[in-house]
Amino acid sequence: MTGNELYIPYGRHWISDDDIESVVDVLESDWLTQGPKIEEFEKEISAYCGSNYAVVFNSGTSALHAAFSVLRLNKDDEFITTPNTFVATANAGLHTGIKPIFVDIEEDTGNLNTSKVEERITERTRLIVPVHYSGHPVDMGKIYEIAERKNLYVIEDACHALGAKYKGYKTGGCNYSDMTVFSFHPVKHITTGEGGAVLTNNKDFYKKLLMSRSHGIEKRSFINKPDGDWYYEMQSLGYNYRMTDIQAALGISQFRKLDKFIDRRKEIARLYDSEFKDNPWFDIPPVRSYASSSYHLYPIRFKDGFKEKKKEIFLKLKEEKLGVQVHYIPVYWHPFYKNMGYKKGICPIAEDFYFKELSLPIYPAMKGEEQRYVIEGINTVMSGYAK
Ligand SMILES: Cc1ncc(COP(=O)(O)O)c(C=O)c1O
Repeated sequence: MTGNELYIPYGRHWISDDDIESVVDVLESDWLTQGPKIEEFEKEISAYCGSNYAVVFNSGTSALHAAFSVLRLNKDDEFITTPNTFVATANAGLHTGIKPIFVDIEEDTGNLNTSKVEERITERTRLIVPVHYSGHPVDMGKIYEIAERKNLYVIEDACHALGAKYKGYKTGGCNYSDMTVFSFHPVKHITTGEGGAVLTNNKDFYKKLLMSRSHGIEKRSFINKPDGDWYYEMQSLGYNYRMTDIQAALGISQFRKLDKFIDRRKEIARLYDSEFKDNPWFDIPPVRSYASSSYHLYPIRFKDGFKEKKKEIFLKLKEEKLGVQVHYIPVYWHPFYKNMGYKKGICPIAEDFYFKELSLPIYPAMKGEEQRYVIEGINTVMSGYAK
């Protein structure tokens, strides 16, 4: 196989005939949106993860925003989160009018450093939002202990972590949090094109999430309908964050293959682990004893002497048709956050992580020969650098 024959992305979806048939069935049905597939998908997700409730949304971003919004936070409230995430995590707070306080990360997992959380809690802190970076769970026992003691809410951003486990508990069971958010973007564990979900065990949050998804409108049979049966009422300010039945049908079909997808991701990670465990150029991702990662990403960290060359290495790997990526530019480095007054240097470990991190291709449809091609490509490019 030569470099010109293919391009291997860092992540991609896996759609098969059964997915296509499920979508076509809905297209030929009476319900393109607000139909029965939504609840069916929600029941599948909550049963799999072990939560009482799930509410699906039209993206992980809208799911995050809805989760924040049902907490009824006040302007000037603050929340603790990580800078090593996609901007959507912190933006959800800004959309709700509350301020992100960035806490530094662990040097190896890239996850929020739980031992640094408490020192950033003030009387304005209301919420902690850990992100299970790359699919490796944060030490949720510690987060939960702090949140209980300080009377704070916890929302898990698990957009990377469907199918991961913490101490044997599946992410999404909300054993250590008030709500958990997933994304079904095509690079994630399953896809609905765009889509997301919030899981919770709290009935009040569940009802509010349903309302928030659809304009804050209540039309179910238990409200008083003084004008007639057509009556509905808007009880709070909501959004149109609805997922379509077309997407939900795809999600249900994909969900049936989730365990297979995750097993394949783990297999790919094991092969990278064994190929790269003693190499001179970079460290491979660790797995804590409490964690079972679902490997949304396979993030390597260049050692000193090589991280300075990452820009060049990245280009060489691209020339070899290897679709590597970097996760993440620290959120507060973005101009929007800079203009809000966030300064470089507040989370030095996250900043160094950004310099040294590179995500290798990992996705369930990746064939054995494609992974061999990635491994050979990396060895070829890196052997051009002194050990
Ligand atoms: C950690 C994290 N949070 C939130 C999101 C937002 O999800 P979506 O793209 O489905 O809106 C993403 C998506 O990449 C993500 O990686």
